[in-house]
Amino acid sequence: MINEAIRKSLYLPRPAKLIEVDTLAEKEKLFRLQLEDGNVLDHTPGQFVQVSVLGTGEAPISIASSPTRGPAFELGVRAVGNVTQALHRLKPGNILGIRGPFGNGFPVPELAGQDLLFIAGGIGLCPLRSIIQYALDKRQQFGKVILLYGCRQPVEQLFRQELHEWREREDIVLLESVDRCPADIAWEGSVGVITTLFPSLDVEANRTVAMIVGPPIMYRYVVAECLKKGMAKENILLSLERRMKCGMGFCGHCQIDNTYVCLEGPVFSYARLEQLKEVEL
Ligand SMILES: Cc1cc2nc3c(=O)[nH]c(=O)nc-3n(C[C@H](O)[C@H](O)[C@H](O)COP(=O)(O)OP(=O)(O)OC[C@H]3O[C@@H](n4cnc5c(N)ncnc54)[C@H](O)[C@@H]3O)c2cc1C
Ligand code: FES
Repeated sequence: MINEAIRKSLYLPRPAKLIEVDTLAEKEKLFRLQLEDGNVLDHTPGQFVQVSVLGTGEAPISIASSPTRGPAFELGVRAVGNVTQALHRLKPGNILGIRGPFGNGFPVPELAGQDLLFIAGGIGLCPLRSIIQYALDKRQQFGKVILLYGCRQPVEQLFRQELHEWREREDIVLLESVDRCPADIAWEGSVGVITTLFPSLDVEANRTVAMIVGPPIMYRYVVAECLKKGMAKENILLSLERRMKCGMGFCGHCQIDNTYVCLEGPVFSYARLEQLKEVEL
C-alpha cells in the first residue's frame, strides 16, 4: 500500500534540467535531462516518466536511454499536441518537471542467458533503445541480439548515428525495412512492411524473448510471425500505450478491464494480453 505522504510526493514533479536537445527526424527530438537534486532517475528499461512543461501540462514519455549510461537520461519525443509541441520549443538550460519512473518495464533479470529479438516500428525505437543499450552494455549476459527496425521511409529513421554503429558491430544483427523508398534515396535495407524481415530471420524459438514496440496495427502481424517461428506466448512482450494521467493506479484513465496499464504495464506478455477482453490484437 502507498501511504498518503508517498502518494503526495509521487504527484509532485521533480525539477530536471535540459542538458542537450538533438533533432532525430522531422517530428522527433531527443532530450537529455538531469534531475536538479543530483539523484539518478533509477529506472528499469521500458519504464516511463510523466514529463511536465510549466504552464502547459504533462505527458507520459518512455525513457529512451539505459540506466547503465550514467546519471543523465534521455527522452525521444514526437511532437503531436500541446505538451509534446511545447517540449520541442524548449532549449538547453530550461527546467522541466519529471514524475516517476512508472510502470513495470522489461523483466531484465529474466532476460539473462536468453536470445533477444527486438522489434521496433517507428517511434517504438525510443522505448526499445533503453533495453537495447542495456543489453549491449552487458553483452556477455545475453545470447544473440537481433533488432528489426521498420519505419515508413528512410528519412524517418531515428538514431541514425547509433544505427550506423550497431550495423558495424558483430554482436548485434540489425535488419531494417521501410514501407516505401523514393527512387533518389540510397537504401540497403528491405522495402515492405516490417514482417517482410521475418523469413530471413534465424531464431531459436525456445531460447528467444521478443520485445515489440510500435504502432498498434503492427502488433497483430508481428505477433503472428513470432508465433509462426514457434515462440511461446509468454516470451512475446509488447509495450502498450494508453491515455494516462496519474501514472500510478489512482485515476483509472489507463484502465483495460481491471488492469491499470500504468502499474501492471506498459509491458505485457502476449499470453497476458490474450486474457484482457478489451485488447484487440
Ligand atoms: C507509456 C507511454 C509511453 C509513451 N512514450 C512515448 C515516447 O517515448 N515518445 C513519444 O513521443 N510519445 C510517447 N507516448 C505518447 C505520448 O504520451 C503522447 O503523444 C502525448 O501524451 C501527447 O500529448 P500532447 O499534449 O502533446 O498531445 P494532445 O494535445 O493530448 O493531443 C494532440 C493530438 O495528438 C493525438 N495524440 C495524443 N496522444 C497520441 C498518441 N499516443 N499517438 C498518436 N496521437 C496522439 C490526440 O489524439 C490529438 O489529436 C507514450 C505514451 C504512453 C502511454
Ligand atoms: S494513469 Fe491513472 S490509473 Fe493509470
